[in-house]
Amino acid sequence: MRGISAAPAVLLEPFAPADAPRLAGWVRSPEELFAWAGARFPAPLSEDDLRSHAVRAADPACGIRALRVVDPASGEVVGHLELTGLLPEQTSSTLRRVVVAPERRRLGLGTEMVRAAVELAFGNVGLHRVEVRVFDDNHAALALYRRCGFTIEGRLREYRRLGGRFRSAYVLGVLSSEWPPA
Ligand SMILES: CC(C)(COP(=O)(O)OP(=O)(O)OC[C@H]1O[C@@H](n2cnc3c(N)ncnc32)[C@H](O)[C@@H]1OP(=O)(O)O)[C@@H](O)C(=O)NCCC(=O)NCCS
Repeated sequence: MRGISAAPAVLLEPFAPADAPRLAGWVRSPEELFAWAGARFPAPLSEDDLRSHAVRAADPACGIRALRVVDPASGEVVGHLELTGLLPEQTSSTLRRVVVAPERRRLGLGTEMVRAAVELAFGNVGLHRVEVRVFDDNHAALALYRRCGFTIEGRLREYRRLGGRFRSAYVLGVLSSEWPPA
């Protein structure tokens, strides 16, 4: 699978074990790790855990598509995201683990990545719904998804615990009938 994004601004390619060191360097603290992946990986994020994750995600039976994001102009890997349920018999997908390289943030790249991911789910696979969960203090991510046409559908009170404190999250969703946003 190469260059599966329909969007010209970024390319989505399979995340490989060789991408692990770069990705580990983008998630620099327990707080950032929690915002990015909840409790999926222990802190500090290790390259070994990400290599194992890449191997697992490469198995179609695992149900996750882990993707690195490439800037087609430079060939540089500038982000990462994951989607569940990208199978024609499914109706919905969950977008997860979206991250932009720290030095490339606030330039519109997250918007292009999320657009490419939703386009993949709706345009390429034919799904009906994409959702995402975001901790309620992650203002950058909330702005990003709303800018991409997602609607806040609910609040998951005290959804996960970090450092002895429960954190709440929002569920946001977008339907194929709402895509692309105006
Ligand atoms: C969230 C993240 C992916 C956004 O990527 P990005 O490339 O900076 O996003 P964009 O440049 O496309 O900006 C999208 C919107 O978010 C807003 N935004 C971006 N960073 C922001 C910040 N730190 N504070 C407030 N708003 C912010 C932008 O202003 C823009 O909204 P606007 O068009 O209404 O002004 C990036 O900050 C990141 O990788 N964060 C760490 C990992 C993480 O939290 N992932 C989310 C998991 S759900």
